[in-house]
Amino acid sequence: MTGLELDHVGFTYPKAKRSVLSDVCAFFAPGTISAIRGYSGAGKSTLLYLIAGLDVPTRGQLRWNDRPVLTGDLTEYRRRVVSLIAQSYLLFPNRTALENVCYPLLLAGKSRQEAETEAREHLRSVRLGEELYRRLPGRLSGGEQQRVAIARCLASHTPLIAADEPTGNLDEENAREVMGILQKLAEEEKKTIVIVTHDRMIADLAQKQYILSQGQLLTE
Ligand SMILES: Nc1ncnc2c1ncn2[C@@H]1O[C@H](COP(=O)(O)OP(=O)(O)OP(=O)(O)O)[C@@H](O)[C@H]1O
Ligand SMILES: [Mg+2]
Repeated sequence: MTGLELDHVGFTYPKAKRSVLSDVCAFFAPGTISAIRGYSGAGKSTLLYLIAGLDVPTRGQLRWNDRPVLTGDLTEYRRRVVSLIAQSYLLFPNRTALENVCYPLLLAGKSRQEAETEAREHLRSVRLGEELYRRLPGRLSGGEQQRVAIARCLASHTPLIAADEPTGNLDEENAREVMGILQKLAEEEKKTIVIVTHDRMIADLAQKQYILSQGQLLTE
């Protein structure tokens, strides 16, 4: 079965008394957007970090296309399978907006010129003004950084996208625009997309909705 399976996933932070995730089971299918909501502190970002391969579950298993993620090479998984739009964006602070988006393209072997041409297309698609391309992230607003992070994710061309509040810093028009981009990626490129959102309107645009509560993922 293609897609991402979470099989009884649990997670406890080192030295923490209680687990954040106790028993998460879910299957995220290609061509769909799944939206996860839940209280602040429920563990939504923690779950996306596990999906993005930036942390490893303390219990259970993740499988991508039926293959266990954790026994394989996580670097390969992070590079080729999944890209994360993090809640705090995780942009490279010493690289410009354009360089941030070029990064995965250069990593994939494109020439600097090819990378830059494509990066500009992605930055245009998230409606970032051209005058901002040469700025460092620290000199961009939250919403502008968010759009750079989304453009970088588009440039990664991974089949799995995990997005933590991808519209959290955007006005309604830009939020709908970003959701339109994600919907198109799901429909046309059959990407598997998992987003975390507090926004009901955004969640309603997803095919599947979940609530993360008491360490478990419940279907709405
Ligand atoms: N590095 C860490 N070490 C220990 N505990 C942590 C760490 N990061 C997060 N936590 C705790 O884990 C729990 C879940 O945090 P997480 O960031 O996943 O919540 P969230 O659902 O994303 O919240 P929000 O909606 O505010 O972003 C919280 O109680 C938090 O304090
Ligand atoms: Mg969070």
